[in-house]
Parts: sequence; C-alpha cells; structure tokens
Amino acid sequence: MSPARNSRRASAAAARTVVLGVGGGIAAYKACDLVRRLRERSLRVRVAMTAAARAFVTPLTFQALSGEPVLADLLDARADAGFGHLDLARSADLFLVAPATADLLGKLAAGLADDPVTAVAVAARVPWLLCPAMNVAMWRSPRVQDNLARLLADPDVHACGPAEGLLADGDVGPGRLAEVPDIVEAALRLLGPRDLEGVKVLVTAGPTREPIDPVRFLSNPSTGRMGFAIARAARARGAEVVLLTGPVELPDPPGVRVVRVVTAAELAAAARAELPRTRLVVAAAAVSDFRPRKTSKRKLKKEALGGREALELERTEDVLCALSEAAVGRDRPVFVGFAAETEDVVANAREKLRRKRLDLVVGNEVGRPGTGFAAEENEAVIVGAKGEPERLPRLSKAELAQRILDRAVRLLGR
Ligand code: CTP
Repeated sequence: MSPARNSRRASAAAARTVVLGVGGGIAAYKACDLVRRLRERSLRVRVAMTAAARAFVTPLTFQALSGEPVLADLLDARADAGFGHLDLARSADLFLVAPATADLLGKLAAGLADDPVTAVAVAARVPWLLCPAMNVAMWRSPRVQDNLARLLADPDVHACGPAEGLLADGDVGPGRLAEVPDIVEAALRLLGPRDLEGVKVLVTAGPTREPIDPVRFLSNPSTGRMGFAIARAARARGAEVVLLTGPVELPDPPGVRVVRVVTAAELAAAARAELPRTRLVVAAAAVSDFRPRKTSKRKLKKEALGGREALELERTEDVLCALSEAAVGRDRPVFVGFAAETEDVVANAREKLRRKRLDLVVGNEVGRPGTGFAAEENEAVIVGAKGEPERLPRLSKAELAQRILDRAVRLLGR
C-alpha cells in the first residue's frame, strides 16, 4: 500500500464514528440531512435502518450521503458474513437513533434485536442518543413514556427532543423530530472534547501470564476492561493510541493499534519500543510481580515432584517504573499508574506516586463485591503530586476513563 493511502486509512480510522439507526417514521427524511450535517463536523456516519424506515427512504440514499454501506437487512447472509451489526456496534463512538419511533423505543427498552437498528443497539456499549419523533397521541401514551423512562434510567442513554409544533399529520404538540442542528450539537457534546488530537498515548492493560510449564502459569483475574476503556476514550478524544495488552477476551477497540503480549517481560519490551514520541502513559495492566525462576519445557508431573512442590519465584521488571526511569528531559511523558488496594488506598497510591515518579495514581479498593477486577463499575480516587485526592463517585469504567483523561489533559497543558 502506498504511504498516501496508508495515511488516508489512518485518518479514516481516527475519525469518530456515529452509528445512526433510522426508524420508520416520516421524519426519516430528516435523517438524510442529519447524515450530511454530522459529516460536515468530521464525523464518520454509518447507517442501520429498520424495514419500516426503508418504506420512507431507500438504503441507497443513505449510502450515497454517508459514503458507507448501509445495514438494511439483518438476515442478508452476504452482508459482512451476516455479522454486519456487530461490526457496526464495535466501530461506534456514539449510537444515535433518529427518528426513534414508538415501536423502536419499545423494542430498545425491551432489549429486542430483530432488525438492523435494535441488533446494533444491543451490542453497542457506547453512549446512546435517542431522538423521538411520532404523533402527539402516541408520544403521550403512558406505554411510550414508560419505555423511554426505562431507557433513560441508564446513565449512558440520552434523549434529544421531541420538539413541539405542527406535525406531519396535522396535529400540533410535542412529537416533531428535534431540529437537526440541535441533534448534531447533542451528539458532539456526548462525543466529548477532541483535546488529545495528535497525542501519542500508550496504555497497558490486562493481566500477564508467567509460565510454570507448558500448561500452567501464574496470573490474576484482570479482564483488561479498564485499560481498554482508557484506550477507547483516548481515541475518541483524538489520540494516536497504542494498547499493549496481556491475554484478555476483549476485541480490538476500533482505531487503536493493539499489541498482544503474554508475559511481563514481553510487555516491558513492547512498552520500551513504543516509548518514543509517547506523551501520555497510562499503566492499567495488572502485571505479575513475580515469575517462576525456572520454566519447565515439559509438563511437570505431580508424582515426579516428590516433596519438591515449592515454586521458586523471582521478581519481574516493573514496566511502569522502567518507562518512568527511561523517560528524561523535556519530552518526558505524563505518567498515570493504578493502585488496586484492599486497604489504605490513598496512602498506598501516594507511595506509588513517589516511588515510581508518576504524575497521577488512580487508587481503587478491590476485594469488595461489585468493584475492581472484572466489575463493570469502579469507585476510585485520583491522587496527584499536588492537591487533595479527588474522590470520584461510583462510575462506569468508560466514565472513569474520561475523568482520568480530563486530569491527564490538564497536566499535558492542553
Ligand atoms: N506495574 C507495572 N509493572 C509491574 C508492576 C506494576 O507496570 N511489574 C504498574 C501497574 O500497571 C500499575 C502500577 O504499576 O499502574 C501498580 O503498582 P505496584 O506498586 O506494582 O502495584 P502492586 O503490584 O499492587 O504492588 P504492591 O504489591 O507493592 O502493592
């Protein structure tokens, strides 16, 4: 591939993606203009439409306006091997539904997935922006209101509109699709700031595995979710993101360069190689502190151990410390570490901040049910070199990632 094409592809990967779900209402024609207005703001728009929406606007119209193939048939085996909805969901930074009809709101609230829009929705773990549009009487139906209230109980689900006025059917009242510029502004607000444009960010994530023999290893229960959330959030803010991860079951976040490693030594080598040009390091990996002194090439048989069951360990390299020591001078990046503790979170975080020469440490309590490893939410405290610790409420990992980046951006002087 020529360098020019290469760089075009890189910038396409860096564009933030709005997946637009179009429902079957007369306001579907306004969704055409919405696609154009979103693209004018440098957003990539990928469209999914319900069967009912196709009765109002053709997929070809959206294809021409978005410059992307349109997901218009969930059961079309030729489209992306039938997994088009998952591909769309994965690529989304924002899931926008316009018009969100009464029928779509009901299906979304119930978690149904029987058409292109709802199938994307169920897999789209990004903020949702719903733009309801329907007849006044339908809008006022307690069933519709109840469905919307259930959706909005999720902190990641937001609504824009409906606006009031003359509706297509002659009624007057609430039910019109919000004005397109208002929807664009709401979408941009949810996508967040673009304050890491052009900044290289290095994120470590997941556990490492230190082999004992070909079938056994030392490791920990890290799922990698926190590091992946940071990588996604940094990319959404315009960063060039390199994500170094130990073995986890998460798919590559779109637009992020992912390097998969296994051991602490591999992580350290990969991190060193990526240090040049890096302006921000976020070390969320749960690196094994120890590894077996010897790794057996053959599977250890228990009978053969004969009383020599003790495992002799040695320290692994501290990846974050090594990077922090290697980075000197004006180009020294901002360093963010994590401290997962069962007690004295702030004191331990402060100690790590000093010992590793970090700029921020995100402390969180582990060991209680519902937080820390493998949990969806986190209650963290951010400790900096100066000022009081910032105690954060219980947040989703995606939200916590944004808060950590807010602090890092300030330290980067952006
Ligand atoms: N870290 C690292 N390489 C290691 C160990 C830790 O990069 N070999 C990073 C983690 O990604 C995290 C921070 O350092 O950002 C955690 O600090 P650390 O003091 O190692 O935490 P613990 O392993 O919990 O240490 P301790 O047992 O001393 O509490």
